[in-house]
Amino acid sequence: MENARVILVGVGNAASALVQSLEYYSKHETIGLKYETIGGLRISDIEIAAAFDVVEGKVGKDISDAIFAEPNVAPRLVDFTSPIGVEVKKGPTHDGISPLLAETIQISSSPDINLVKEMKEANADMVISLLPSGAKEATYAYANAAIEAELAFIEAAPTRICSDDKWVRKYKKANLPVAGDDLQSQLGGTRIHKGILEMLDSFGARVRNTYQLDVSGGSEGMNTLHTDRRLEKRQIKTDSIKRTLPYLSDYDIASGTTDYLDFLGNERTGYFWIYGKYFLDTTFRIDVTIKTMDGPNAAGTLVHVIRATKLALNRGIDGPLISVSAFGFKYPPVYINERDAVRRFEEFIKGDRAN
Ligand SMILES: NC(=O)c1ccc[n+]([C@@H]2O[C@H](COP(=O)([O-])OP(=O)(O)OC[C@H]3O[C@@H](n4cnc5c(N)ncnc54)[C@H](O)[C@@H]3O)[C@@H](O)[C@H]2O)c1
Repeated sequence: MENARVILVGVGNAASALVQSLEYYSKHETIGLKYETIGGLRISDIEIAAAFDVVEGKVGKDISDAIFAEPNVAPRLVDFTSPIGVEVKKGPTHDGISPLLAETIQISSSPDINLVKEMKEANADMVISLLPSGAKEATYAYANAAIEAELAFIEAAPTRICSDDKWVRKYKKANLPVAGDDLQSQLGGTRIHKGILEMLDSFGARVRNTYQLDVSGGSEGMNTLHTDRRLEKRQIKTDSIKRTLPYLSDYDIASGTTDYLDFLGNERTGYFWIYGKYFLDTTFRIDVTIKTMDGPNAAGTLVHVIRATKLALNRGIDGPLISVSAFGFKYPPVYINERDAVRRFEEFIKGDRAN
């Protein structure tokens, strides 16, 4: 299979870890990497075809430099000895920069590019939206441009594209695949939360209330302090948990970011609390804390989703990618429990499952 060529929309912390991983795994052991090859593609067969951002200090730079520019805080794990050869271009800002973030960064004064033209000229396969949470108008602009440029679309942010019938119809009509919504990190809070709940359910425990709240640094942490944006992210995470145990109501679950602390950098601390009953109406409580790095956590899923989306393109699949989305996203168009989602994803990449 030919290399998978991706256009990055948003050169933030998740993009930083993704770009570094392409170089990292060409030189290091495959620790932490679940699938070395997918459809014959190794990580090093993923290529950045183009990248768009709006922030001064990122726009105009080679992507190998831009990923380390402020306000990015993802760890530097790779030293690039030469430029990658992809200059970050200025996309349309729309609602991409929240009022809080606008106080700390400057928007580039470069003119906006013609999105569709740039996307067409990039000779790419797919567009990945790594825009901030709540950047709905910006997401719609890029999602529309991807259709016009005849590219697949991966919605890693929490705006509903792949789980929205209107957008699904658009991609199907254009014979293009779409995956999403809201990336599920490799060791993400939602994935771990769902895993614990599924385990409890399968052994007969009845969950009464649960929360997963986290504190993080990084601009996405600051972005989700903004009330509307925080509520949007919370809703998609809470809905994801509710799909795991449908008997729980909105009042029984809380899931989402609670605070931003600059000094945490790219780290996220997730607190999980579960309360319920088991045999003989006995009470149980579970308290768990995990600490992870957001950037690597995102890239650990993205590298698989990208290669699976390339497979889907090669196989001529259009519309929502069902197994890929259930495996890699918090709010896929069809909910499948965690264990079955992994199995179905593996069947899909082997070619034993159509979608
Ligand atoms: N582990 C993870 O990091 C993780 C997991 C799941 C989902 N996500 C989602 O992925 C997205 C990206 O996360 P992140 O941590 O990289 O965020 P980030 O804030 O570090 O990066 C977002 C980037 O988008 C850029 N941007 C803003 N408006 C833009 C526009 N109109 N055009 C182009 N670029 C624009 C910003 O300048 C920034 O570089 C978020 O929506 C987040 O919720 C991340």
